[in-house]
Amino acid sequence: MANEKTITLSVIKADVGGFVGHCSFHPALLDIAKEKLHTAKEKGTLIDFHVIRCGDDLELIMTHEKGCDNKTIHELAWNTFTACTEHAKELKLYGAGQDLLKDAFTGTVKGMGPGVAEMEFIERKSEPVIIFMADKTSSGAWNLPLYKIFGDPFNTAGLIIDTSMVEGFCFNVLDVKEGKSITLFCPEESYYLLALIGATDRYMVTSVLRKKDKEIAAVASTERLSLIAGKYVGKDDPVMIVRCQAGLPAVGEVLEAFSFPHLVQGWMRGSHNGPLMPVPFYEANPTRFDGPPRVIAAGFQIAHGRLIGPHDMFDDPAFDETRTKANHIAEYMRRHGPFQPHRLPLEEMEYTTLPHVLEKLKEKFKKE
Ligand code: F6R
Ligand code: MG
Ligand code: MG
Repeated sequence: MANEKTITLSVIKADVGGFVGHCSFHPALLDIAKEKLHTAKEKGTLIDFHVIRCGDDLELIMTHEKGCDNKTIHELAWNTFTACTEHAKELKLYGAGQDLLKDAFTGTVKGMGPGVAEMEFIERKSEPVIIFMADKTSSGAWNLPLYKIFGDPFNTAGLIIDTSMVEGFCFNVLDVKEGKSITLFCPEESYYLLALIGATDRYMVTSVLRKKDKEIAAVASTERLSLIAGKYVGKDDPVMIVRCQAGLPAVGEVLEAFSFPHLVQGWMRGSHNGPLMPVPFYEANPTRFDGPPRVIAAGFQIAHGRLIGPHDMFDDPAFDETRTKANHIAEYMRRHGPFQPHRLPLEEMEYTTLPHVLEKLKEKFKKE
């Protein structure tokens, strides 16, 4: 049967250069990316694609039948990012090629800088998916909404109403400091789960599966963190894929989890806590103190691998109050200036210049 085929949905993203500074993205680079992926579609490598950006990050959304972590698909993404970087260099865009950490492609983009979220599934009778993309924050930003979506009946009514969901969900969690993973079952292990994922700088939810049949429900990008686990606690501007409806949380239940602008790590210099503001595509240009952090949601119906969409899911006045609240919280946090908890604790500012400041002061410190 045509609709029994396993489809792979790959979202691969990178910051290839900002316009202006780190706040937005130049349209000429979007055209280059579209052209590259269009050629791949014509050749039959891809079934379909959509190119989009959030803040200064370029996201390649692709469907194909090659499975996760496929060399051809990853190489296509890598070559697209390098082509965009070349043009970014010509325009002297800011931080051109920022996320391309290696010179040559070696089989997978994992560990080379770009972020990856991929899932394989057999397309259902109707297949609604939402792709979330964030800027100026880290993968830990998804922990709270993922718990609300798949673990909290006060958010997701279906958890107690829909018989497909009452058994609950399995959360796969990565310890980025130790480079180890654990699977926890919700609701029965929800206190253990919360004990871990409440520590958003260390434990990241990587995927969620429906317990009764292990159907994949959500995947988040954390690869970059996992590969450099043990020392890296930087910000990834993560992406996430969530499948919705018919035995999974409804579109509106998934989006409801973003109606509270929770505090996330990132913002200016990746070194500050700030509210995550859900915005329509055209408002994903963080300018105030390089923020506050943004999230956009692109909704698609997948039809035989074709991406029908996107629909701009946060382009709804129902999220106006959330945005207003986020602005109030942003103002409140900003008034703390260089003080915690607006500024992150020292150990989470590794890639900023602060450790060098401490190094300089070393000689001036006297034993008490
Ligand atoms: C945060 C981010 C920006 C930069 C800041 C300083 O993720 O990208 O807030 O950290 O604009 O950038 P540089 O050091 O490139 O001048
Ligand atoms: Mg940037
Ligand atoms: Mg970014």
